[in-house]
Amino acid sequence: MFEVNKVRQDFPLLKKAGESSKPLIYLDNAATTLKPQSVIDAVTRYYTDYSVNIHRGDYDLSYQVSDYYEKTRKTVASFIQADVNEVVFTAGASASLNLVAYGYGEKYIQENDVILSTESEHASSILPWFRVASQKKASIEYVPLTEDGQITIENFKHAMHAKVKVVVIAHISNVLGYVVPIKELTEIAHSFGAIVIVDGAQSVPHIQTRVKDWDIDFLAFSAHKMYGPTGVGVLYGKYQLLDSIEPYYLGGGSNARFDRCGNITLKNPPYKFEAGTPAIEAVLGLKAAIEYIESIGFDAIEKVEHELRTYLINHLKEFKHIKLYNPDATSGIVTLNAIGIPSQDAAIYLNSKGIMVRAGNHCAKILLDVLKTPDTIRISLSFYNTKEECDAIIEALREITLEKCIDLIF
Ligand SMILES: Cc1ncc(COP(=O)(O)O)c(C=O)c1O
Repeated sequence: MFEVNKVRQDFPLLKKAGESSKPLIYLDNAATTLKPQSVIDAVTRYYTDYSVNIHRGDYDLSYQVSDYYEKTRKTVASFIQADVNEVVFTAGASASLNLVAYGYGEKYIQENDVILSTESEHASSILPWFRVASQKKASIEYVPLTEDGQITIENFKHAMHAKVKVVVIAHISNVLGYVVPIKELTEIAHSFGAIVIVDGAQSVPHIQTRVKDWDIDFLAFSAHKMYGPTGVGVLYGKYQLLDSIEPYYLGGGSNARFDRCGNITLKNPPYKFEAGTPAIEAVLGLKAAIEYIESIGFDAIEKVEHELRTYLINHLKEFKHIKLYNPDATSGIVTLNAIGIPSQDAAIYLNSKGIMVRAGNHCAKILLDVLKTPDTIRISLSFYNTKEECDAIIEALREITLEKCIDLIF
């Protein structure tokens, strides 16, 4: 049974906030999430109890930490319903997206090929493909968005054609929070012979991911957006695809042998992509983060986040001076502007009330041309947020004026 007050005790920052008179209302969960004690303990335990390198030492501590590290791979695989040798540890979603753009783009993209994406993508997902397109004389095309910024199956169908070799798409947009019907899109893309790379940075923490059922070719996500540590992420890839592409960096741990003539034999996936000493403590923290999410369960996570979102939207849509950009989205991302107030000024005002949100373009710069605004305020919810916290931002936005923001700034 989900109890928010109990759950909040698991997060040192929220616990401390509960004991202080100064409000700490964290509504920037799409940027990164807070960390529960179990994750902090797992990270610390590496330094206090192990501290040695993985896969290299012929001594007990190294065996133990290597085993723990590989158990994390199993935990990740079962979490996203993949096979264990399809899980590559990277430095984060951006690293995963670059790895696949480099590896797949280098090997398979040719002149006049098309990479299909959308105007709502995050820089980390689309910029690596801009480079591939420019190097290979390929081009980028965009699935037209609906007026409110959504990707529909119909629009996607119309945008697909025989020259499209790769589809790069976020499962949940980090600005508008719409959930894309991935399973339907992969089916359409595959019928044209294209592969689908899914940016799961905003979806994996919030909904159950099923890479096999959805027939995803590659999936990227970061631990820090799912209650885990910074500095680690995952690239899932179908084994044959991982096997067929090259890593973009080489080094210790990823090769089976090499000689003075420059011949290199790489290990099999996933190890051929993991050169050098990884962020071991962060990988161990990722295991704890997944176990934490599983202890809450996606049914509760989706229900709570959806209830909070509905509560917020129902109140905010009553305010004439608030423009909501995604009232019909279903995830915990609510994007808005207070009319006539630059988003950063509004964020500074909210900060004066102890409320943390994100202001700006959210690394999705093309989308803001579509939305016809230079920037927005993004509220992003987690299961540990409360109705009282929603009330606090509703009240702050009810009374916000440009004069109040200016008074704070000058
Ligand atoms: C949709 C999306 N993709 C990719 C990223 C990049 O994630 P990271 O900064 O953890 O590499 C983000 C981060 O905000 C994101 O929201």
